[in-house]
Amino acid sequence: GRTPSAAGALAGRRVLVTSGPTHEPIDPVRYLANRSSGRQGHAIAAAAAAAGASVTLVSGPVAIPDPIGVTTVRVETAREMLAAVEAALPADIAIFAAAVGDWRPATERESKIKKDGEAPAPLALVENPDILATVAGLAQGRPPLVVGFAAETDNVLDHARKKIAKKGCDLIVANDVSPAGGVMGGSRNTVHLIARDGSVETWPTLDKDEVARRLVAHLAGLVAG
Ligand code: CTP
Ligand code: CA
Repeated sequence: GRTPSAAGALAGRRVLVTSGPTHEPIDPVRYLANRSSGRQGHAIAAAAAAAGASVTLVSGPVAIPDPIGVTTVRVETAREMLAAVEAALPADIAIFAAAVGDWRPATERESKIKKDGEAPAPLALVENPDILATVAGLAQGRPPLVVGFAAETDNVLDHARKKIAKKGCDLIVANDVSPAGGVMGGSRNTVHLIARDGSVETWPTLDKDEVARRLVAHLAGLVAG
């Protein structure tokens, strides 16, 4: 069935959502990225707005339109995403659906790397800031409800349970992104909701829009109770 948009369930609440991939520049024409389309995060932002929330969406580079009724801030890199997230706080609920690049090239070359017959030097990488862990760990101004995603290709529940503890968030939405499932870039998603106590709620495979509406209804229930 189709979950209604729970009109008014988040009235007066501020919701922050991250979505999409990040682009980590190598030189002026090249970057490191991933297969995230932004569809799940954008759908969550739209569903939260439909439920009456005041929504800020911080999005990496995506090919889909900005959701209606949402303040969208576009960024490219993980570090820009962190800065935009910090600028968008405070929030009652923060949902981290972005596929943030874990690493970036250690240096961004100012001019295009040329093909000169030699093999290029190996690309040195450094770790990006963890936006979810940073916000979940805020001593002041931590949103009361911090929701992470876990993109896994194997042992989905085991990895996701470890992630909730490591990140310090309140809830993890785990999805199987192994290529056979077609989740990355596709329109459907199979998710498991994992709470801090380790309990798991598995939903059937649904359109990302339906996953978004159900998640918003679930979160509205948590902030109300
Ligand atoms: N995340 C983030 N900032 C990062 C990396 C991840 O905010 N630099 C967030 C994602 O938006 C997601 C959660 O952390 O909500 C988990 O992301 P995931 O890539 O599954 O986990 P990682 O901790 O990066 O571990 P790994 O990629 O090794 O599985
Ligand atoms: Ca990662």
